[in-house]
Amino acid sequence: MIDETEFDFESRIVSTEASQEDGDVEINLRPKAFDEYIGQEKVKEMLKVYIEAAKGRGDSLDHVLLYGPPGLGKTTLSGIIANEMGVNFRVTSGPAIEKQGDLAAILTNLAPGDVLFIDEIHRLSRSIEEILYPAMEDYVLDIIIGKGPAARSIRVPLPKFTLIGATTRAGQLTTPLRDRFGVLLRLELYTHNELATIIKRSASLLEVEIDDEGAYEIASRSRGTPRIANRLLKRVRDYAQVKGDGKITLSIAQTALKALEIDELGLDNIDRKMLETIIKFYDGGPVGLETLAATIGEEAVTIEDVYEPYLMQIGFLSRTPRGRCVTRLAYEHLGLPYKGNTIQIKIDE
Ligand code: ADE
Repeated sequence: MIDETEFDFESRIVSTEASQEDGDVEINLRPKAFDEYIGQEKVKEMLKVYIEAAKGRGDSLDHVLLYGPPGLGKTTLSGIIANEMGVNFRVTSGPAIEKQGDLAAILTNLAPGDVLFIDEIHRLSRSIEEILYPAMEDYVLDIIIGKGPAARSIRVPLPKFTLIGATTRAGQLTTPLRDRFGVLLRLELYTHNELATIIKRSASLLEVEIDDEGAYEIASRSRGTPRIANRLLKRVRDYAQVKGDGKITLSIAQTALKALEIDELGLDNIDRKMLETIIKFYDGGPVGLETLAATIGEEAVTIEDVYEPYLMQIGFLSRTPRGRCVTRLAYEHLGLPYKGNTIQIKIDE
């Protein structure tokens, strides 16, 4: 077991989890219309068609499921959908809905056409999901009154509304819930150019001067994720203000990111330690997810949802049926000699 204090997961600047500070800033930086929203071109294109069609029919938009890694703008996109439809945007999350009554209260307060956004929808309990099925399908609430033989069910009509569910992985949803969404859209990690454009837009809203090279440098270390890009921008801005003349240039960005211990690929100490742990303790893998989680003192789901997507995207980690393997590319990046890992022998079996 590794000393857990070595892994300060909670306070990572490259964490994709939203923090309180992000919340405040994201609200101001959030685009309100499709033409301000950068990237996710295919998703935007499809949504624009569905919205125009629904508006043309005078109908509400079909239920939408947005899935993909955290920090890519699922909430932002949902707010834009509500704006473009010209309806209210109500926000809640799976863990926040504890009782059936909580959801019933939200649903009965909706106005016709409203967008109800449920973040982390895979975390709804089964009993709450069951309330959602008739609400999504027939726009009714089935309420059981009383207990035992005297119990009876009444149906309360609901306004026609649009549910937008967000989840890190569509596979985590139960099939009956997933089947009730008419539109399933997957958000992808952003390219460096898209992130540089987002950073320049945010810098302009924050009234910070930045040049193209400075923006691109921050973008290329942001793990494909706007939430990280905006967070790094703010830290580099502080650095530029105190150590420079306030303007973000390539050299200010490089110095600030070096001080934050974020390397050219956006990896921080925790990524490097996780990769080094697999190399040191498990010969580069394969190592089972649960074993790895126990070794580094982190939950398996956090490793899967938060740390792995980017490491896999840049080809540093591979998922095999026998467990996780560190690739040759990662050894090279860490400056460690690559001896090959055992999975290559096993493949030949
Ligand atoms: N802020 C966060 N995500 C964004 C996006 N896709 N476009 C513009 N600004 C953003």
